[in-house]
Amino acid sequence: MRVCVIGTGYVGLVTGVCLAHSGHHVICIDNNEEKVKLMKAGQSPIYEPGLSELMQSSAQSGRLEFSTDLGAGVKHGEILFIAVGTPPLPTGESDTRYVEAVARGIGVHLNGGYKVIVNKSTVPIGSGDWVRRIVLDGIEERQKTLVTAGGGGVPEPIHADFDVVSNPEFLREGSAVYDTFNPDRIVLGSNSKKAIAMMQELYIPIVERKFADDPSLPHVPVVVTDLSSAEMIKYAANAFLAVKISFINEVANICDRVGADVTQVARGIGLDSRIGSKFLQSGIGWGGSCFPKDVSALIHTADDYGFQTELLNAAVHVNQRQRVIAIEKLQHELKILKGKTIGLLGLTFKPDTDDMRDAPSLTLIEQLNRLGAKVKAYDPIVSQSGLSHGLTGVIIETDPEMLADGCDALVLVTDWKEFLSLNYEKMAKSMFNKVLIDGRNFLSREALEEIGFRYVGIGH
Ligand code: UDX
Repeated sequence: MRVCVIGTGYVGLVTGVCLAHSGHHVICIDNNEEKVKLMKAGQSPIYEPGLSELMQSSAQSGRLEFSTDLGAGVKHGEILFIAVGTPPLPTGESDTRYVEAVARGIGVHLNGGYKVIVNKSTVPIGSGDWVRRIVLDGIEERQKTLVTAGGGGVPEPIHADFDVVSNPEFLREGSAVYDTFNPDRIVLGSNSKKAIAMMQELYIPIVERKFADDPSLPHVPVVVTDLSSAEMIKYAANAFLAVKISFINEVANICDRVGADVTQVARGIGLDSRIGSKFLQSGIGWGGSCFPKDVSALIHTADDYGFQTELLNAAVHVNQRQRVIAIEKLQHELKILKGKTIGLLGLTFKPDTDDMRDAPSLTLIEQLNRLGAKVKAYDPIVSQSGLSHGLTGVIIETDPEMLADGCDALVLVTDWKEFLSLNYEKMAKSMFNKVLIDGRNFLSREALEEIGFRYVGIGH
């Protein structure tokens, strides 16, 4: 099928590349010329395992193109994905101005055959109908310019037949390509049977697990709903996972006080199939571009309708407190932090991504600075890529041994695999105080204690 994806952030680019790999002909549109130039040259603007390889092979096969020309993209696609950002506003609401601009732009360029316009961006509930109206506004705008250009004569009315579908994504950064080809479900929300049928056809290769790690698994379930329910599924899924993590973090804090081990508790409860073992890893809290933004947006939506959410507010509150738990533990170990040097292992909000959005490390840096500590950090991606430029109050080291040199404590912030095999013995030798706060319960207490570290986990 002919597909146009507008917006080449994490979601848009991964969707476009994976659909091209599945056999569709995809044009990815972005208004950032530099980015488009880079992608045309076969380079991915984001770090995402496996993405560059698929990008290059799909581009070589002629099924994947990049352009800044929205008109050409709209003309090409039978299915048009809106995949631009919806960043949070200071109020917690989503900023939908990019979605609005794209929807209007689609309307302005729409003409000819039937099109399915797909909301892939995470948009407030009710946005499906709103997008429809904005597209219609765009069509009207163009009709007016035709009247003016025609010098007052009556121009041909624009023929534009389209439906809107909500198709939320559930991909995780760092395993976005894997998640796209191995989804737990595909959600399609629309009031149009024709649009749903076209979306089902688009996803046949993925539903039939043609590119899945285990193609023998049963077909991927497709959940067909109305527009608002599909939009709600996205928020409810992310909110549930955020609550689940906050729950285990709350349990971890109780474990710390009573002397239980949260990692054993998580295993013990996770084996109950009603609970499930995933997303029960306690630590210094959730961050990233989705959980904080989506939970706030859902709280805000409920508030708009006069409903105060208790559970979601509590999950956010637990998460805020969780971020500074590493500092409380440092104070317990080192007492006054003023003048002490703290080394952060990891900066990104989770491993296998270069994303720093709402990363717990940012809160730690700010709070440690406020308490007068000197902060250094090493991150496998940030240290190498020059992404550290926007960071203040932290010295970025280019290797973990330099990081440890002169430190009073290390705090493991991100569970990057490479941190499992660092030379901690050598690192300990250059430290003033051998304290290690494991903010992800990731390292081996026994191994670290054996080489003289004072190891402190989270509820562990
Ligand atoms: C999330 C959702 O998982 C995905 O479905 C959605 O499309 C986008 O939001 P992502 O933000 O990429 O994906 O990361 P995820 O792996 O879900 O982790 C989110 C945060 O929770 C990270 O900060 C991570 O460190 C933290 N986390 C995750 C925990 O603290 N404990 C866990 O058990 C799992």
